[in-house]
Amino acid sequence: MKAVKPAKGTAAKAPAAQVPAAQVPFQDLYPANRLVEKEFLAQAAELYRESAFSGGPYVHSFEKAFAGYLGARHCLGLNSGTSAVHLALAALDIGPGDEVIVPAFTFVGSAWGILYCGATPVFADVDPDTACIDANSLAGAITPRTKAVIVVHLFGRPADMDLIQAVLDAHHGKRGQRIALIEDAAQAHGALWDGKAVGTLGDAGCFSFYPSKNLGAAGEAGAVITKSAAMAEKIERLRNHGQKVRYRHDLLGFNYRMDGLQGLFLEKKLAFLDRMNAERSLLATAYLEGLYSAEAVPLGGGEGSVWHLFVCRVKRRKAFLAHLDKHGIGYGIHYPVTLPELPPFRDAEAGTSKPGTASASRKGKGSKPGAGSKARSGSAQPHALELSRSVVSLPLFYGMKMEQVERVVDVVNAFG
Ligand SMILES: Cc1ncc(COP(=O)(O)O)c(C=O)c1O
Repeated sequence: MKAVKPAKGTAAKAPAAQVPAAQVPFQDLYPANRLVEKEFLAQAAELYRESAFSGGPYVHSFEKAFAGYLGARHCLGLNSGTSAVHLALAALDIGPGDEVIVPAFTFVGSAWGILYCGATPVFADVDPDTACIDANSLAGAITPRTKAVIVVHLFGRPADMDLIQAVLDAHHGKRGQRIALIEDAAQAHGALWDGKAVGTLGDAGCFSFYPSKNLGAAGEAGAVITKSAAMAEKIERLRNHGQKVRYRHDLLGFNYRMDGLQGLFLEKKLAFLDRMNAERSLLATAYLEGLYSAEAVPLGGGEGSVWHLFVCRVKRRKAFLAHLDKHGIGYGIHYPVTLPELPPFRDAEAGTSKPGTASASRKGKGSKPGAGSKARSGSAQPHALELSRSVVSLPLFYGMKMEQVERVVDVVNAFG
């Protein structure tokens, strides 16, 4: 049968019931990447001719621009955010016998570095309203072996750095123990705490430029920022096979360098970061104003948030997701399990990992993995557990239309 092309305008006259409701994807990365497409591709041709693929001038130029944007002294471009946390810990000489506190509810990349260093992860609970580390739980997790705390600015929202700093200062005052503060700002490029960019407040700030991040690369990339020249110098060596002078590998090194193409792409995109963050904020505000269902309660962004994700807590998650599916609304779950529930971390706590794994190699300093801390198992972090079982992320991306937010709001409010 020959298809009959509908005459212009007839679609609009179809009865409402026959018009398929608009689908809304969870994410569309192209609108953000389109902003720099022409300029990037033109200059990529130049980079190609120069073959400046690994590290080099385009990476240095981005590092300078990103440090300037954040108000940081040093920036080291890397191949991922996971590497950023790893090298921040490694540069602090964290190793077997040391404990590092990290929230139980975050992306796994916040915590891999602890295992890579052979140290012991100690999990703190999160505040149920912010999903960021809970200061009381942090205070309770500190032991004489604690060497560092990783604070995560989750979903783009700055963690309460005043409370966290107060806990560390009190501890420092009482025991004279210096605990390093590492910020995982992988989801919070440009987020502000008290007017300062997150990542600049601790000893080191770690960023991921995974493509879906607020500042997303055209592939994998990450960076560490720090105010310490000594730390920057050490990370520079660690990322490049542990060498300062070619073939003089004085440190156990890694190949964690950033690609030249990513440096070029990220510097172009950085120019649009504030604009993209401002748009995310407008979309999030529209969600907050529109959503009223007691079935899906948004986590607030808090002052200075850059709204990496728009997350709701939902009691009947399975039914809610089926409702979203039925209406063509995309969603994500960030994150469905807590870190202490994951086998590599469970094993690290119990000291049961297999030979050859990082946690199995932990020895020396008389430390039994998992010994001496107060907050260790999944059930010791009830808020983290509750969030992992109830969170749902709704669509939010640069280029999303207000009508799309309205459509999601209508579908969510109709649930129940
Ligand atoms: C909070 C957090 N930490 C760490 C990472 C790790 O970054 P990457 O995926 O670039 O290794 C990510 C991103 O994926 C993240 O969201």
